[in-house]
Amino acid sequence: MDEIRISGGKPLYGTVKVQGSKNAALPMMAASLLYKGVSILKGCPKIADVFCMEEILRELGASTWWEDHDLYMDCTHADGTEIPCGYTGKMRSSVIFLAALLGRSGKGQMGYPGGCVIGQRPIDLHLYALRSLGAVIEESPFFISAKCDRLSGNEICFTKRSVGATEQAILGAVLARGETSIRNCAREPEIVWLCRYLRRMGAIIQGEGEDCICIRGVEELHGGVMQVPPDRIVAGTYLCACAATRGKISLENPPVGELDAFLEVYRKMGGQYKVKSGKLVADGTGVNRAVPFLKTEVYPGFPTDLQSPLMAVLAAIPGESHIREQIFEDRFKAAEELNRMGAEIAVVGRDARICGRKGLRGCTVCAEELRGGAALVIAGLAAQGETIVRGCSYISRGYEHICEDLSLMGADIVLI
Ligand code: UD1
Repeated sequence: MDEIRISGGKPLYGTVKVQGSKNAALPMMAASLLYKGVSILKGCPKIADVFCMEEILRELGASTWWEDHDLYMDCTHADGTEIPCGYTGKMRSSVIFLAALLGRSGKGQMGYPGGCVIGQRPIDLHLYALRSLGAVIEESPFFISAKCDRLSGNEICFTKRSVGATEQAILGAVLARGETSIRNCAREPEIVWLCRYLRRMGAIIQGEGEDCICIRGVEELHGGVMQVPPDRIVAGTYLCACAATRGKISLENPPVGELDAFLEVYRKMGGQYKVKSGKLVADGTGVNRAVPFLKTEVYPGFPTDLQSPLMAVLAAIPGESHIREQIFEDRFKAAEELNRMGAEIAVVGRDARICGRKGLRGCTVCAEELRGGAALVIAGLAAQGETIVRGCSYISRGYEHICEDLSLMGADIVLI
């Protein structure tokens, strides 16, 4: 099994370029199935989740290839309608292929989606959206089957904001007959990027980034070409690494404007930053203040995906910090491993109290999910001595070259 070996205690100094966004690229890949021709995602991250979506496209009959970091998807013959559970079980985002299959072929069958175990992660809102658009859906213990003549526009009113279910609704509505309004939808930047991509493909969409998205269905779409935006969670992860090691780093290609909630916390901890010549320049040397209370929220609130990386920073700041996780019910898995590194984190339900009395010390820890794995790497960078992080396959789902990037900034880190 791959493991990351870190010799910690060195401040990060240097510049790295932020990779393309995982959560933006994945729904765009599903959207590409809606056109019988070639679509291109430029600057697409080469990460395990993207490769898994690529395998699904190929399983459906598409040809895909890479030219450097540009992903070409030729969906001319992607007329398959079944996605085996061997693929869907690997990742959560596979579920949004259901809308794309219905939009393209009027039917689809797939295994249940897998993904990081950070809570129950039901798909009721996804199925509600598709049923609202006229899909007939059957759920068996092993498969979900859906069919329709042609999806019909309708009003979809979510009881809870969900990124994936909003994407599902959008992907279903763009080729549906008539108009769809999606209320109480997610407002995350990835929704906005998906809508921009679909608009380039000829979709008629208004309101992305707001509470209600309106879509007028069209008869057909054409090919999409889009630059994948920078990954705000990867950027935040590197800023956490800078803060935890009290370093100074610059991020090229930063997702400016998408990190405001995180940067506010960064500043409260004593960090500084500025945007200069298109780079985000961060100074973590003054990070020394605990965060009395922070809750994760839907966008534009503090992102749940940065909760564990931030916890690793707070674990070594004197004073007591308190994080409430409001999005996923089981997202404190990294806490136990951080405690093995000398942290004092007490988790009760959705609350974590972090007492940053002592410094961290290196030891062997195991990642159990993607962002929790990144948190362990951050802790390893800050800790005295050697840390070995196992379970790296989780980390490679979202980070293209975390070890190379951190090495470039002076960290003593290697993937073995
Ligand atoms: C996406 C992101 C993930 C991020 C999350 C929240 C991708 C590929 N993943 O995941 O990185 O952490 O948004 O910002 O973009 N829910 C239901 N029923 C549903 C769907 C969701 O109850 O049908 C619940 C979930 O269990 C969770 C909450 O809604 O408690 C939010 O989940 P959601 O926004 O759907 O997250 P994902 O799209 O899975």
